[in-house]
Amino acid sequence: MCGIIGIVSEKQVLDRLIDGLERLEYRGYDSSGVAVIAREEIFHSKSTGKLNSLKNKLKHNLFDGCVGIGHTRWATHGEPTEINAHPHLTRNVAVVHNGIIENFAEFKNELLERGTRFNSQTDTEVIAKLVEEKISKEKCQPLEAVRLTIERLRGSFALCFIFRGLEDLLIATRKGSPLALGFGDKENFVSSDAASLSLFSKKICYLEEGDVVALTKDKVNIFDTSGKIVNRDIQILNSDPVNLNKGKFKHFMEKEIFEQPQVISQVLGFYLNASKETLSLPTLPEATEFKRIILIGCGTAFYSCLVAKYWFEKLCGLPTHAELASEFRYRSPVVNKDDLLVFVSQSGETADTIGALKYAREYSKNILAIINVEQSSMARLATWVFPTKAGPEIGVASTKAFVSQLIILKILNIKFASDLSTISKEQRSNLLIGLLELPRLYAEILSKNQNIRKLCKKFTRSNSVLYLGRDILYPIALEGALKLKEISYLHAEGYASGELKHGPIALIDKSMPVVALNPSTQVFEKTLSNLEEVKARKGKIILFTDEKGKELSKDLTKSIFQLPNCSDFLVPILYTLPLQLIAYYTALEKGTDVDQPRNLAKSVTVE
Ligand code: M6R
Repeated sequence: MCGIIGIVSEKQVLDRLIDGLERLEYRGYDSSGVAVIAREEIFHSKSTGKLNSLKNKLKHNLFDGCVGIGHTRWATHGEPTEINAHPHLTRNVAVVHNGIIENFAEFKNELLERGTRFNSQTDTEVIAKLVEEKISKEKCQPLEAVRLTIERLRGSFALCFIFRGLEDLLIATRKGSPLALGFGDKENFVSSDAASLSLFSKKICYLEEGDVVALTKDKVNIFDTSGKIVNRDIQILNSDPVNLNKGKFKHFMEKEIFEQPQVISQVLGFYLNASKETLSLPTLPEATEFKRIILIGCGTAFYSCLVAKYWFEKLCGLPTHAELASEFRYRSPVVNKDDLLVFVSQSGETADTIGALKYAREYSKNILAIINVEQSSMARLATWVFPTKAGPEIGVASTKAFVSQLIILKILNIKFASDLSTISKEQRSNLLIGLLELPRLYAEILSKNQNIRKLCKKFTRSNSVLYLGRDILYPIALEGALKLKEISYLHAEGYASGELKHGPIALIDKSMPVVALNPSTQVFEKTLSNLEEVKARKGKIILFTDEKGKELSKDLTKSIFQLPNCSDFLVPILYTLPLQLIAYYTALEKGTDVDQPRNLAKSVTVE
């Protein structure tokens, strides 16, 4: 799971390789490296840690080549050391790789028997050695050497190669992992995504499964799996390169939390005509065509699916399931022709979600993708696409993308309820107008962020935190716990508050902070009873509730944070915000790397 880039040009490429890698760092940041061909030789540099450490190293290495490759890594095979960092090199070949070669051990043994030595523990080095053998022993040309090698590989890969002595050739190929080409004037580009290419070119295309491409500065030849030269659809990017500017904020996550009132307005403005109370939506299916909805995602995106499950069953009366993408495809789930499958993803590149989508496509054409990155693999695989319009999200911990997923799912929920006539015109208007309240409510909570910050001292001194919610706030408790784990490295668990007595109550003692979400909705009293049980065992309750809930919980705890009153259907969206702030301020207190937490990557492109 990594980001790769390659440039062949009439100008030097090193600086642009680094700029491209900066845009790809969301795919991994354990280590990075570059290689260029200059004066017929391969020059390379690698470094562990963030891209900055490679940049510092390169200050003393002025590689002046006009063809080069770069890589930013999220370790799969082998620790994140300099030796395991890409590019991997032999005498004649340098290669960067995104993906996993499942049968690499088989080749490694073969090569070891033939006397080949390995430096790293990676699967990628095997590819470099196989291509080297084809070139130096079997005297193959580079294109042939790559094609014969990839024929034998199992797993997923996007690969980019350069060759000693060839200053105007880059070869790339893909299977399972995405790869885009950018076309320039006397230069051409290849990269894991279109966003990084948008720095250099607006004219792009995507390679298809098994394609191999040979790029020179003047020419791009794409070969399909049969070796035939083919054209792939050219697209003109209309978005500007992602702005990597934090503005007045210390972290991207902080910026992304605080810009949510504007992001929500932007999303609603895009799809909702407030004065006429009408929706202008992309082409979407009619709910009357389906008997069941299956919502699928990973991590935070899965939690938005879980929230939507409550919404769809309640408002539309349609049986709805929420599924973890990483579990879905391997348990042979039943997918019927009249099911609607909704895939939710910020990046549109999550390998588990793509895997589940491909599985579902074998049984049904009813595939809707709710995605934030519009130029993503999922967008190309789905029948319908509903973009979340949150703008680029850089912080690894998802905040504004989650909130925009909830809003899109709520809009879809309202549309489906109208299709099925399970709500009246008046209810529909009330729901649409209700959504417009959100920016103001978010701004109101954000203006009290310092009160939430004070609460976070309690967390840094604990080893574990419990998040409790019931009904539609159960998924929000899960999301709150995930956020805290991701960026503060504190153990946290989300639980349905009614489940507490069935086991986890054993964890409660005076050192356990319990974040409770309990506004005055239909399950208020039940949850209050569950929280009394926590209090009786001396758990430290931090309660988020509304005005009425506060009044009724006076005897429960002193740590009460009052959130604005809102309609029931807005509750999950509203109660997400304080939990984002808790995670952020706790991480700040602990001094962790908020935007690029250890072991994680923004986009998880391996299964
Ligand atoms: O790009 P996706 O929405 O498909 O990503 C899914 C998860 O990997 C992602 O939500 C992850 O859990 C986040 N880091 C959560 O903050």
